[in-house]
Amino acid sequence: MKIIRSREMLAAEIKGYQKKQQSIGFVPTMGYLHEGHLALVAAAKQENEIVVMSIFVNPAQFGPNEDLESYPRDEVHDRKLAEANGVDLLFIPSVEVMYPENLTAEIHVKQRISVLDGAARPGHFDGVVTVLAKLFHLVQPTNAYFGQKDAQQVAVVEGFVADYFFPVTIRVIPTVREQDGLAKSSRNVYLTAQERKEAAVIHEALVKAREQLSKTRDREAILANIRSFIDKQTTHHGMVYLDMYQYPSFEAVTDWMIRLLLPFVYNIRRPD
Ligand code: PAJ
Repeated sequence: MKIIRSREMLAAEIKGYQKKQQSIGFVPTMGYLHEGHLALVAAAKQENEIVVMSIFVNPAQFGPNEDLESYPRDEVHDRKLAEANGVDLLFIPSVEVMYPENLTAEIHVKQRISVLDGAARPGHFDGVVTVLAKLFHLVQPTNAYFGQKDAQQVAVVEGFVADYFFPVTIRVIPTVREQDGLAKSSRNVYLTAQERKEAAVIHEALVKAREQLSKTRDREAILANIRSFIDKQTTHHGMVYLDMYQYPSFEAVTDWMIRLLLPFVYNIRRPD
């Protein structure tokens, strides 16, 4: 596995692949790799001749009071996991490599972000598409791999790529979960033992919501049931949002649309 930190050396490698007409599968990450990331790598390996992964904790997608400084990092472990799972090229740029100058023009996301993380984290998705535009230009992937866990991110990225004719296919991979159903996430290390135990309620609540959806189309009733189910099962009450939207527009679900509902999106964070 090649480890590359500069744009110039990355460009030379990418040219080499293109000369040989090799397809490139790209897995962008912020590192602290787990089986969720590795599922994307496995799909990329199956569908492409070359797999490129990036590890970059992107400052542009963190708000001023968010966890940029404390975001978990372990480059040595990430390198081992990437190599063992068949990544051909690991790109680990510094902030200076990715943002050498103050931006002259900025990218602003205006659809699909008025709710959930888009509302709770102002500017977050601007930062996500900004770094992806840069990475897509550098890597020039045939296919790029994203996790369904971050459904709103997938919707925004798909819209962005379609809007600006990026010549890449976005591939979406199902959520990888812990034994008790909690979605694997680099940020799960923030949870105390008690919180980690209680976090299993999120998946239970999702399963319950899916069951109820097959019986009723009453969105408010389902949300109220799920909210009280979660409240009863947890000792701390740090829910940031619990809601239900259409995919990929992230507009409110109307009763007649509930049958078409795809994701039920949720998020629980620790209170500060
Ligand atoms: P990060 O949180 O490191 O996630 C990288 C990719 O792995 C994302 O597409 C995410 O949806 C996927 N992923 C994370 N946990 C997963 C799980 N349990 N199952 C399946 N896929 C999972 O998302 C980002 O980084 C950044 O926003 C990024 C796209 C790299 C832009 O900076």
